[in-house]
Amino acid sequence: MSIIVVYDSVFGNTARIADAVAGALRPGREVKLLRIEEAAEWPLRGVELLVMGSPTRGFRPTPAMSELAAVLRPAVPGQAAAVFDTRLAPEDIHPAPLRWVVEAGGYAATRMAEKLDEGGFTLRGAPAGFLVGGTEGPLKPGELERAAAWAATLIA
Ligand SMILES: Cc1cc2nc3c(=O)[nH]c(=O)nc-3n(C[C@H](O)[C@H](O)[C@H](O)COP(=O)(O)O)c2cc1C
Repeated sequence: MSIIVVYDSVFGNTARIADAVAGALRPGREVKLLRIEEAAEWPLRGVELLVMGSPTRGFRPTPAMSELAAVLRPAVPGQAAAVFDTRLAPEDIHPAPLRWVVEAGGYAATRMAEKLDEGGFTLRGAPAGFLVGGTEGPLKPGELERAAAWAATLIA
């Protein structure tokens, strides 16, 4: 049994979170960390957990990750999956009223969770959002540690 962590990332922040997630899952397990471009050919057979991560762009995942989440089907019924995104920290969105627009618009993790659920996966853990301080980052302090702690809940 193994774990796959597949992610998309434009500026590198989601890649760093994915790396922290994979690192936290790794002790005693085979964990493949894949960029979405590498994800086309991997088999889901024998995979105990699929983790997907994407930046939130326009309230949703990147186009490539949206497409992947929509077309993926579990190798066995109810195969486990977990999702995370990166997103702007509300306090760094200006002017303040725009914060409500961004929050109301929604986030990539929720959308990936919906698609994977529709496709027949069983979601494990809560969809997670990790915060950046601006469009290109950096990650807010403590987010790598928070990502590792979230990952640990997936295998508890
Ligand atoms: C075109 C564009 C749209 C974005 N839309 C959102 C959004 O709807 N909500 C949000 O919280 N952050 C949004 N962001 C900020 C991204 O979430 C941020 O760039 C991302 O977390 C960085 O991750 P990456 O370095 O892996 O690309 C947007 C950024 C860009 C460039």
